[in-house]
Amino acid sequence: MKKTVRDLTDDQLRGKRALVRADFNVPLDENCNITDDTRIRAAIPTLKFLLEKGARPIVLSHLGRPKGKPTAKYSLQPVADRLEKLVGVPVNFVETTDTDEAMKASHDLPQGEILLLENTRFLGGEETNDERLSRSLAELGDLFVNDAFGAAHRAHASTAGICEHLRPAVAGLLMERELDYLGRALSSPRHPFVAILGGSKISGKIDVIEALLPKVDALLIGGAMACTFYRAMGLETGKSLVEEDRVDMARELLDKAGTRIILPHDAMVAPGIDSPQSARAVAKDEIGVGDAMLDIGPKTAESYARAIASAKTVLWNGPMGVFETPPFDRGTRTIADAMAAATGNGATTIVGGGDSAAAVAQAGLSEKMSHVSTGGGASLEFLEGKPLPGVEALDDK
Ligand code: 3PG
Repeated sequence: MKKTVRDLTDDQLRGKRALVRADFNVPLDENCNITDDTRIRAAIPTLKFLLEKGARPIVLSHLGRPKGKPTAKYSLQPVADRLEKLVGVPVNFVETTDTDEAMKASHDLPQGEILLLENTRFLGGEETNDERLSRSLAELGDLFVNDAFGAAHRAHASTAGICEHLRPAVAGLLMERELDYLGRALSSPRHPFVAILGGSKISGKIDVIEALLPKVDALLIGGAMACTFYRAMGLETGKSLVEEDRVDMARELLDKAGTRIILPHDAMVAPGIDSPQSARAVAKDEIGVGDAMLDIGPKTAESYARAIASAKTVLWNGPMGVFETPPFDRGTRTIADAMAAATGNGATTIVGGGDSAAAVAQAGLSEKMSHVSTGGGASLEFLEGKPLPGVEALDDK
């Protein structure tokens, strides 16, 4: 167990510069307007907690992949503006991160205000976890709070290296919540435990399938990755996306899983994504050579919904189809609705980050889940059982 901000004494917080690593890697449109501020909202409980304790939050984050040099479109300025609106206290923004100016701003920050520093990935040493950069970032604070669950699978200077030079180093409230929900799903889930995995590729999900199989009562598969399993079963997949080099692995997984892996028994197919008007439902052994599977079929969606309704723990990662394009959003929508209803009936429902979180938000159901993770890659790696460097580096309880 890792220490959190709640384990610190008032004296360890009052008046102190609390260096907070957040994950403000938010989607932007071409004019650098934030299109989804979920990750900014998610950091607010920690920032408010620190402000209430009289600490002075100095926030670090990355945005995008600017490759070690300042790049205007990846500036955190729009995040500073949005954060100020959401948190309701002044947010000062400094356009650099490891400079004298940033250091001075950290010391001058008045209580009751927040300082946000520019994108950590503008610095060459961030992604190489450079020791000198870690040390100079550490000088910006009197204690370190890692609330960036979404970036915790990266061993970077501002997520992991910094902890070598700055103690206490503790988890923020978002990090604590993420580790709590995902950790309990793995270590002590209430049964029946149903996991739903989707998305286009089986390759990125093999480790998570292997890790979940011994723990779940059923693993429901959707998305185009179902087609790689179909191919392994010798079924026609037409023009669907199949990872040829993973077919053998899919066959091995099916052999190993017995009846615990459940594949869609029908599919919504069309000649292609741009011909939704030709969409039709077919049984899994009726996919034609000219068809592409673009969603699970209605019978599958119904039976998955029934499995979710009878579960006590539900974990979902990856959409069931091309949810951005109706009518191929129906399978994904049915899963989201079933999970929302299950939450209401007392089940613990957890949505992994990335596309499934976006689908739940699109359906307006985020509030109806027990937990929607802010981490895409991070939540997958956690579920695979891999240690997250940004968590490992924190102080033990
Ligand atoms: C994410 O969006 O998954 C995190 O912010 C990590 O970003 P990265 O994949 O660019 O490291």
